[in-house]
Amino acid sequence: MADISLEQATHEIDDLRRQINHHNSLYHQFSAPEIPDVDYDRLFDRLVELETAFPQLLTPDSPTQRVGDKPLAGFAQVRHDVPMMSLAKVFNDTDLADFEARILKRLEIEDEDAEPPIYSCEPKIDGVAVSLLYEQGLLMRAATRGDGVTGEDITHNVRTIGSIPLRLDTSGSLERLDSPERMKVPERLEVRGEIYMTRSGFAAMNEEAGRSEDGRTFVNPRNAASGALRQLDPRVAARRPLRFFAYSAVVQGDTHSGILDLLGQWGLPLNPERAVVSGYQACLDYANQLLAKRDQLDYEIDGAVIKVDSIRLQNELGSNARTPRWAMAYKFPAEEASTVVNDVEFQVGRTGTITPVARLKPVFVGGVTVSNATLHNMDEIERLGLRIGDRVILRRAGDVIPKIVSVVKGTSEKAAEKGTSEIRMLTHCPACNSPVEKDGEVLYRCTGGLICPAQRKESLRHFCSRAALDIEGLGEKLVEQLVDADMVKTVADVFTLGKDDLLGLERMGEKSADNLLAAINKAKSTTLPRLLYGLGIREVGEATALSLATHFGSLEKLMQADQEALEQVADVGPIMAAHIAHFFANEENDKVIEQLRERGVTWPEHQAQTVSDELAGQTWVLTGTLETMTRDEARAALQALGAKVSGSVSKKTSCVVAGPGAGSKLDKATELGVKVIDEQGLIELLKS
Ligand code: IVH
Repeated sequence: MADISLEQATHEIDDLRRQINHHNSLYHQFSAPEIPDVDYDRLFDRLVELETAFPQLLTPDSPTQRVGDKPLAGFAQVRHDVPMMSLAKVFNDTDLADFEARILKRLEIEDEDAEPPIYSCEPKIDGVAVSLLYEQGLLMRAATRGDGVTGEDITHNVRTIGSIPLRLDTSGSLERLDSPERMKVPERLEVRGEIYMTRSGFAAMNEEAGRSEDGRTFVNPRNAASGALRQLDPRVAARRPLRFFAYSAVVQGDTHSGILDLLGQWGLPLNPERAVVSGYQACLDYANQLLAKRDQLDYEIDGAVIKVDSIRLQNELGSNARTPRWAMAYKFPAEEASTVVNDVEFQVGRTGTITPVARLKPVFVGGVTVSNATLHNMDEIERLGLRIGDRVILRRAGDVIPKIVSVVKGTSEKAAEKGTSEIRMLTHCPACNSPVEKDGEVLYRCTGGLICPAQRKESLRHFCSRAALDIEGLGEKLVEQLVDADMVKTVADVFTLGKDDLLGLERMGEKSADNLLAAINKAKSTTLPRLLYGLGIREVGEATALSLATHFGSLEKLMQADQEALEQVADVGPIMAAHIAHFFANEENDKVIEQLRERGVTWPEHQAQTVSDELAGQTWVLTGTLETMTRDEARAALQALGAKVSGSVSKKTSCVVAGPGAGSKLDKATELGVKVIDEQGLIELLKS
């Protein structure tokens, strides 16, 4: 902040206040925000930053001096016993060190050898803050935070959330406490915490919403939770996967962590990731470990909350206008950001499918810079109402591919004046100019086949990939060059490449050429499943390739199989069988296989017997999303090895394969000590 003058700060502060007030009024009075929350937060955070650096510019009418949203109309208003504050944010290590330094200064602890403060560290749940009022142990009222002083009564909705006790548990565990009085639930107890939606529940709900008539989906779990709580009809909330974690209470106690323990004993759900540590360095370690775990949690978090644990010290430290001095939110990289769609281009896949891809103004989201996002198909574009030039919200959460979740309202309506333009499917392939045909309900396909360089590149890339022939060093850049220079027309041409050919390529030295030739040579001894997968037959993934190899044993037998025989293979349905038959009926494809043989590629007969009883007698369970194969393929592959695949976890389960979004089945497996592996683990096992 040292690099900005008082005059510059005055201007910027003025400007920020004007913008924030404008957005506040759009949001609260007209319910029509013009910018996404992430952008609003950025303006707000910058204003807080400037006002902190230049306290002389802070005025009582600054929007930062208002605690939060105005209460919603249509709900009874609730006054909180003690205001519900928010947290100041820090974004890096130094900020956190400063936080501790400020605390020590305020507490007049100058001795450098003094013990550092004890902190309670917790995940910052990205949900909706609520206050629960218990009287004589009974849930009497639930309210949103509102503006911090007054919130809305949402008792009817909160009562539908299973993890929130309607009656607190005052039985048992009395003897565990030194003083029985402290165990007693106070006559009036206000508990605070976060209502959130599970990630897995959100994904399932959105999948269903996508299939509904209007196809409208929810942007993120927090919005979906907040929307449910703001309904007058409690049946909406009852149907949504909402949960609760308590994070504080208006109650007497010595330490924050002690109060949480007490809440836990009374039956309130607490976050299992919380920890008590000493000194800011340990807080940082905590935050980093939590960040590393972020993607595995079944709820979204946007940071770690660091709180001074001693209540006495908390009271001594006190609060500012809207935030306590004894706590901080250590923010993680945002998983949503807004950016602009500069263009939409069309990519041609291995089998000719044409996929629209948005070229974005680069934006930092979910910890990485993103400049492209797949739009999947034309239906997706229509559903979003997307036009080139639109401002959009991009989301990259849980380590998944970035996705455009919505167009920022107001920009598409103003399309004409903003100069945005409509997105149309091409009539001809961008790579080979062959006509584009509609294939089925939503897909479009280039009709060029092997004459299309884009399809050739994709086929070659696929053929060389790790799960197929695994030719190390034959990556994207090289594939591009080989196809563009017409050195490789079909995948079989890889085995005709000589050293001189390679040396003519960009950035190819003597040594790399030798290495590549060695890798190509090594790949000549392959296996039938790898070859079948590598040929790129439509719909045939790794698991199906394995099932086919297991069933037929040799390529000759597979090539002779008719539609009916193909449908005998575990998990091969009529459509896939047709694709396979169609592939081998094509003379061009037969020629490629012949050339592969001639050029020294070998694949021994697949020994079905030796592997097929490897998992005999075992019961496996699949849960969560699988990314490289469908669930049916995984099931077929396991069955091919003799395993039974079941839908529920019990003591008898041998192993659970858990993908992202796994929920109760994974919990149960962990509880019962059943072995759990991920998709990669399964693939490795299938290959071995
Ligand atoms: S403590 C005075 N603890 O973060 C301290 N807040 O800006 C008040 N939040 O909307 C909050 N997880 O709802 C606290 N473990 C946690 C939290 C948490 C999420 C939310 C809270 C509030 C915002 C703070």
